[in-house]
Amino acid sequence: MPETHPFSSALLHWFDQHGRNNLPWQTNPTPYRVWISEIMLQQTQVDTVIPYFQRFMRRFPKVEALANATQDEVLSHWSGLGYYARARNLLKAAQMIISEFDGKLPADQCALESLPGIGRSTAGAILSLAFKQRAVILDGNVKRVLARYHVVDGWPGHTQVARTLWQHAEQHTPAIRCDAYTQAIMDLGATVCTRSKPDCNRCPMQTHCKAFKLSDQGDITPQTWPGKKPKKTKPKKTSVFLILENHNEEILLLRRPQTGIWGGLWSLPEMAENTDIARNIASLYQLQLISK
Ligand code: ADE
Repeated sequence: MPETHPFSSALLHWFDQHGRNNLPWQTNPTPYRVWISEIMLQQTQVDTVIPYFQRFMRRFPKVEALANATQDEVLSHWSGLGYYARARNLLKAAQMIISEFDGKLPADQCALESLPGIGRSTAGAILSLAFKQRAVILDGNVKRVLARYHVVDGWPGHTQVARTLWQHAEQHTPAIRCDAYTQAIMDLGATVCTRSKPDCNRCPMQTHCKAFKLSDQGDITPQTWPGKKPKKTKPKKTSVFLILENHNEEILLLRRPQTGIWGGLWSLPEMAENTDIARNIASLYQLQLISK
C-alpha cells in the first residue's frame, strides 16, 4: 500500500529513535512553560537556553508571577540571552493573559498571535506542543529542511519564498502526533540538516530530498538552500562609555531607552560617538574612558 504521508511518516519514525525528548520544557509541557521556552529558543540555541529556562521557571513559575514582576526583574533574568525585546514582550503578554484571557494562554492561533512576541510559527508551536492540536510551524530550522527537501530557491525573508515554504509546511503537517512531528522537524533541522554541515547519510528524508539528489548528481551542495539574505553593509558605530565612580566606589548606571540595543537594560552612560565632547568631558572630570 502506498504511504499517504511519506514525509511525516519517515520523520516520525526517525524521531522515535533519535529525537530529543528530555529537554526541560518537554517534561511537564504546560502552555506557560512551552511559551517561555519557544520565546527563548527563537534566536538562541538549546544548550544556551536550558540554564536560563530553569532560572526563569524558578523565579516565575506561573504566568501570575511573571505578570506581577517588574521589567527590571524580567530583564535581569534575560541578561546575556540577547534580543531583549523578547523579555519586554513576555512581560506585556503575561499582563494581557491575566487581563484578557483569564490567566490562561489561549488555545487558538489568532488569539495567540494577538500577544506581543508571538508570531505565526510560535503560535503553531505552542498549539501543537502544549495543546496537542494540529498546527503548523515554520521556524529557521524548518525553513532549512523544507527549502532543501523541495529545492525552494530564494531567501525565506522574501514574501513569495516564505509563502511557498508555508504551503509545504502546511501540506506535511499530520493530523495525528502533530506534537511529535513539530518536535521532530525542529530536531532534524538542529541535529542532521544543519546549516553548514548537513549529515545527509544519517537523514531519514534522503530518498526524496531534491537537494540531496542534485548534490549527488553534480557539484552543487545542499547548503545552497535556503538562499542567503541579500548582503547590506552593516553600519559601524563607535561609542564611548563613561565609568563614573563616587567616593563610595559606586558606579553610575543609567537605564537605556526601551528601543534600540540593550533596550531597558541598565548600562554605563554612553556618549553617542567618540567625539571631542566625550574626550573633553573625560579630561575635565578626570573620568576613565573605555571604548566599545
Ligand atoms: N527550537 C525552537 N523550538 C524548539 C524546541 N521546542 N525544541 C528544540 N529546539 C527548538
